[in-house]
Amino acid sequence: MSAIQTTVVLAMTADGKISAVDPKAPRESDAADQAHLEYQASLADLVLVGAGTIRAEGETFTIRNPELLAARKVRGQSPQPITCVVSGSLDLSLDLPFLSQDIERWIFTTRAGLERNSNATTLQKLAELIDLGDTDLDWDRAYTLMAERGIHKVVTLGGGSLTASLLQAGRIDDWWLTIWPVIYGGKHAPSPVEGEGFVPNAAPHLQLVETRQVGSELFLHYRTLN
Ligand SMILES: NC(=O)c1ccc[n+]([C@@H]2O[C@H](COP(=O)([O-])OP(=O)(O)OC[C@H]3O[C@@H](n4cnc5c(N)ncnc54)[C@H](OP(=O)(O)O)[C@@H]3O)[C@@H](O)[C@H]2O)c1
Repeated sequence: MSAIQTTVVLAMTADGKISAVDPKAPRESDAADQAHLEYQASLADLVLVGAGTIRAEGETFTIRNPELLAARKVRGQSPQPITCVVSGSLDLSLDLPFLSQDIERWIFTTRAGLERNSNATTLQKLAELIDLGDTDLDWDRAYTLMAERGIHKVVTLGGGSLTASLLQAGRIDDWWLTIWPVIYGGKHAPSPVEGEGFVPNAAPHLQLVETRQVGSELFLHYRTLN
């Protein structure tokens, strides 16, 4: 494991879905989970988000709670963590609200994405585009770059494809999974880890290190074992 600690923070329904079949369908707001997410994100130097999530949600999470902002200041962190979107294709609409949020923005991408995408020159003015491989994103290069830039704590907010890629690369140290007391169903609704999947005897195992219950909602903290 690297010196950078990487924590996944995701919420899923009791039937294991991170969104409904229609990812843009509005969700009921959930104060306990929002507070948990804000606290976890407030610990980060950098928040990683997949392009699919930014395309579905339009913008990223920002820290507003004054106590969390004060704690960041005491720790010598900037008011908001850097938000880094992972997008091999760079196929990101220029009118995404994310691109005008008052935060430091990075985009991890590939040379192929930079060369193929006609928006790249404009995107470059709105975010720092970081080329991390010819056609495939090289997580070793990403982590070396983050370490060189003084990043110690990464919080990754999904979605499932980004989580699968980080897990495959052996970069996830721990997980905070919220279990919402609701069932979305739908065989095409996404789950916390997409990708190709693992055969059971090669699947990453987890150790449960902490649990919290707020009403019917569960917050589970796991450490990755292998
Ligand atoms: N409940 C929750 O806590 C939660 C949290 C987050 C998201 N979600 C939901 O999850 C859904 C999105 O999940 P998703 O799995 O479709 O998308 P995602 O993981 O957010 O994004 C996938 C995209 O990220 C880029 N990417 C990921 N790994 C990459 C790699 N190794 N190299 C290059 N690019 C990489 C690719 O972008 P390009 O296509 O640009 O190449 C890929 O298409 C949305 O419905 C969202 O609302 C729910």
